[in-house]
Amino acid sequence: MSLSRTLARVPILARSYAQLPKPKEITVNGSTYATDGWTNISSSILPLTDRKLHLDANHPIGILRSLVEKRFSGLGYTFYNEFQPVVTTHENFDVLGFPKDHPGRSKSDTYYVNETHLLRTHTSAHELECFTQCPTPGYFISADVYRRDEIDRTHYPAFHQMEGARVWSRTEHGAGLESKLEADIQAIPKTDIIVEDPSYNAVTNPKQDFMTDREAELVGTHLKRTLELLVNEVFNEAKESARLAGSQEPYLNEPLKVRWVEAYFPWTAPSWEIEVWWKGEWLECCGCGVVREQVLTNSGLQDTIGWAFGVGLDRIAMILFGIPDIRLFWTLDERFKLQFSEGKITTFKPYSKYPGTTRDVSFWLPLAAPEAPLHENDLMEIVRNTAGDLVESVKLVDEFVHPKTGRVSQCYRVNYQSMDRSLTNEEINVYQEMVRSELAEAFQVELR
Ligand code: DAH
Repeated sequence: MSLSRTLARVPILARSYAQLPKPKEITVNGSTYATDGWTNISSSILPLTDRKLHLDANHPIGILRSLVEKRFSGLGYTFYNEFQPVVTTHENFDVLGFPKDHPGRSKSDTYYVNETHLLRTHTSAHELECFTQCPTPGYFISADVYRRDEIDRTHYPAFHQMEGARVWSRTEHGAGLESKLEADIQAIPKTDIIVEDPSYNAVTNPKQDFMTDREAELVGTHLKRTLELLVNEVFNEAKESARLAGSQEPYLNEPLKVRWVEAYFPWTAPSWEIEVWWKGEWLECCGCGVVREQVLTNSGLQDTIGWAFGVGLDRIAMILFGIPDIRLFWTLDERFKLQFSEGKITTFKPYSKYPGTTRDVSFWLPLAAPEAPLHENDLMEIVRNTAGDLVESVKLVDEFVHPKTGRVSQCYRVNYQSMDRSLTNEEINVYQEMVRSELAEAFQVELR
């Protein structure tokens, strides 16, 4: 193929972003924001904010969302699915008690619209408004969330989370609060899941002073039984779908097993993570905890106690539907889309595996730290802006310090592999050259 034809296939977003004039304004989901020195949403991310895969009833993410919602409907929860991805730094971080120097706040981890607005990094960003307005004791929120991250088969800069929470008002229930909590625990449908739960450690994972020991225990139990029900529903469905697809793997006959491990989140105490035993390893599934008093009072809930959790949907959907690469969720290829339909968990049938090709990019980092040093996520972003979803993974494969000059050399390996066509060497060379020149231009690295 001629170079000009090759270039014609290079998508428009492949133009170097250092060459693009920085716009004064940015429009996300129809709202316009003034840009500033914080703005770092790239042209490859912006279109994702309109996709709303969780609302597509025939998409694996939407099917998983409905499966969970169906299990919990009638049990006292409101389902919120329409929140837009731009939120304030206040909602995403401050209100939840993230310290000012938390790494999640950095420009290298988060997509900023400007200094005060960002693409939510988690659904917990909506806790404040949900606690404020929710008409039922509990709620679920499903939404797309965004993080600057590495590139591989399980990481994509946009993914989906489901947040859940439940509260009890002391004023409303008065002396009957504990019996109300006990009755609500009894009302949760039972599962026969095997649970490992080492009783929690009051020193490393303490309860909050504003709750009695009994309240903390009951709220924690309600949270755990609720999440066990969610896990039971989803992972038993995953087994059923694998069986229907003809799998006879031994894990299909094992009972479902979970364990509770201590965790830390700024807005909950105590906090846990639930892990599921899946195909011979523990799979981290969901963070959760007893909501901190401050978060509840920030939301106008006085004298209230409750729990919250947040679960990532993409990794679970990959298991449930047997999807090998997270990029597939975003493909517009009919061969993917037509395989799934509302209410059905089916195992993905790969339509073909096109061969991949790797290219290495090696460079010396500048000796004197520049104003904006190269962060690994910046490199990921450059590759993604250049070659989009044609990149399967990017990995640091070599790093060393020159013994005499003290300069650091790095080598990253980019694996180019399309999900729906064969790539030519010529085309890949063009992408790779663009990645190299963008790196040199934007981060003053010396290419090798
Ligand atoms: N937002 C957390 C995350 O993205 C998940 C999470 C943990 C949500 C604990 C919660 C929670 O509501 O209580 O990793």
